[in-house]
Amino acid sequence: MEMNSKNTAPVGVFDSGVGGLTVAREIMRQLPNENLVYFGDTARVPYGSKSKNNIIRFSRQIIRFLQTKNVKAIVIACNTASALALETVEKEIDIPIIGVIVPGARAAVQETKNGMIGVAGTEATIRSETYTKVIKSMNPDAVVIGKPCPLFVPLVEEGFAKHKITEEVIDIYLSDMKKTDIDTMILGCTHYPLLRSRIIEYFGEKVHIVNPAYETAMDLKSILEKKGIANQSGKPAVYDFYVSDAAEKFTQFANTILPYDVAATKQINIEEY
Ligand code: DGL
Repeated sequence: MEMNSKNTAPVGVFDSGVGGLTVAREIMRQLPNENLVYFGDTARVPYGSKSKNNIIRFSRQIIRFLQTKNVKAIVIACNTASALALETVEKEIDIPIIGVIVPGARAAVQETKNGMIGVAGTEATIRSETYTKVIKSMNPDAVVIGKPCPLFVPLVEEGFAKHKITEEVIDIYLSDMKKTDIDTMILGCTHYPLLRSRIIEYFGEKVHIVNPAYETAMDLKSILEKKGIANQSGKPAVYDFYVSDAAEKFTQFANTILPYDVAATKQINIEEY
């Protein structure tokens, strides 16, 4: 089969910062042939405390930047941007674009036995009720209990995922949810999969934990195949990393979570796009 440039073009992945690397990591695992251009908006992170208007503006700028790299598809790895901007920006571009909310919600709806689903995320994600709306569109009888857990993000970024302080913070945020009958919980923020084992420990076996990053990579695979734009060149994938600030810090963090040596990260001025 003739391979055209659309097939070998990279997939754009973006996030408010480093957290989206949990999604990039899943794409690298499940789609090892795909080239990636990752953008982390480290100058303007966190998105979780920002307004919808700004999150849409930031997302538009990043999409314009990624399009200069000729991406064939875009993954919004950030739950907050998926919750607040995807609906708007998907109408404005003519390449496939997906977020993490629909794949995560679908997995939870498939997994739950009693229809009671917990969602942990940023303030903006939980306030938007996007997870709730998407879950209810799939199962109108579902009960969704959302909880903002803003301190999880700095704890992960400080390298405190295994620290005992994290156990206390998990308890402060999630003790009310633990008292409910939820049998499924969505890790609705890019950083939370890095606390997955701590959260599993906290809830015990009765609660199934959904990582939307995993489901999103599966969705991307099926979209690229359906559209006939999957990369089957067999060449080693190329990964490029861009940020809007503090490239070195990003590279350090990336090297703690990616199964791949990130040699360098380029800094760009995202406000120019
Ligand atoms: N990437 C964000 C998310 O998944 C978390 C960090 C932030 O607030 O920007 O919602």
